[in-house]
Amino acid sequence: MQRETIHILAIESSCDDTAAAVLANDRVLSNVVANQAVHREYGGVVPELASRAHQQNIVPVVSQALAKANIDKKQLSAIAFTSGPGLMGSLLVGASFAKSLALGLDIPLIEVNHMRAHILAHFISNGGHKPPTFPFLALTISGGHTQIVRVNGPLEMEVLGQTKDDAVGEAFDKSAKLLGLPYPGGPLVDQYAQKGDALRFPFPRPKMPGLDFSFSGLKTGILYFLQKQQRENPHFVAENLEDICASIQYTITGILMDKLKKAVKQTGISEVAIGGGVSANSGIRKALVQEGKKRGWTVHIPKLEYCTDNAAMIGITGYFKYREKLFSAVDVTAKARYTIR
Ligand code: KG4
Ligand code: ZN
Repeated sequence: MQRETIHILAIESSCDDTAAAVLANDRVLSNVVANQAVHREYGGVVPELASRAHQQNIVPVVSQALAKANIDKKQLSAIAFTSGPGLMGSLLVGASFAKSLALGLDIPLIEVNHMRAHILAHFISNGGHKPPTFPFLALTISGGHTQIVRVNGPLEMEVLGQTKDDAVGEAFDKSAKLLGLPYPGGPLVDQYAQKGDALRFPFPRPKMPGLDFSFSGLKTGILYFLQKQQRENPHFVAENLEDICASIQYTITGILMDKLKKAVKQTGISEVAIGGGVSANSGIRKALVQEGKKRGWTVHIPKLEYCTDNAAMIGITGYFKYREKLFSAVDVTAKARYTIR
């Protein structure tokens, strides 16, 4: 017997992107993201401005997602939304909108953990690409998080290691800021790095035990290095930007790959998936593919649009939860801190 088609409207508003998507089972019918340019001039996300922009964006973004999917609200089976982790003011906008809509349409409401969603993005139907098989390891790298997760099943995950201070994305963005690049600097570091010599400037690597990460020392190391160089040559950054970026990217990539190798060794699991905004980084992607080939790992890298924050990943997680009837009560709360467990 054919399974009925489940239509889920998904909403993501955990940080500075307002996003909505419509899925038919594991297929994406529409995936709309409104970026908030307002933060650029402040050099980082300003929480107050983010929640205000979500309030302005949410109705047009959801309407656009429904229109693009050619779906009427009455055809929806459930509403999924990000309940955390993230910025409280931002999460509340998505949560209240999702709750009212689910209540109005009298359909189930499904709360979704944003970090789980980054991992489950791999299960979005993608032109025949084979999704990971359980158990697998997921390296989730974004502006807010850096985690290695053992994924035993769609709803069964265990964090094996995580950052004790800055996230990888912050390491990229803060380094970029020291180089005078605008926010978010991660993609720019990547761009300049492609033309630079990665071995020119050796930066310090943290000595963190187990599978945990630390990136705050790297930022300080880069700061002292730049101060010293600029005392001798005030034009040091401008004259060496590509090599500096390549060296920073090489160091960060090395830190991530070392921990992944350790995680594979420790768990005996050699299927590895990456997710989160920083997995858009070309150096990290290349290194992962190379390590995979060298060590016989099966590697999964999502499409770019499913790496950065998006609502399709919330939708696929909602779909897994829908199948298990894991619905949320209308008094479900947004959670700024929300571990995967
Ligand atoms: O997952 P995401 O879109 O939002 C969060 O949940 O944080 O990740 C955003 C982060 C930012 O720090 C941004 O600089 C970084 O991902 N990023 C990159 C690249 N593209 C995005 N970092 C390095 N290289 C890139 N190509
Ligand atoms: Zn994210």
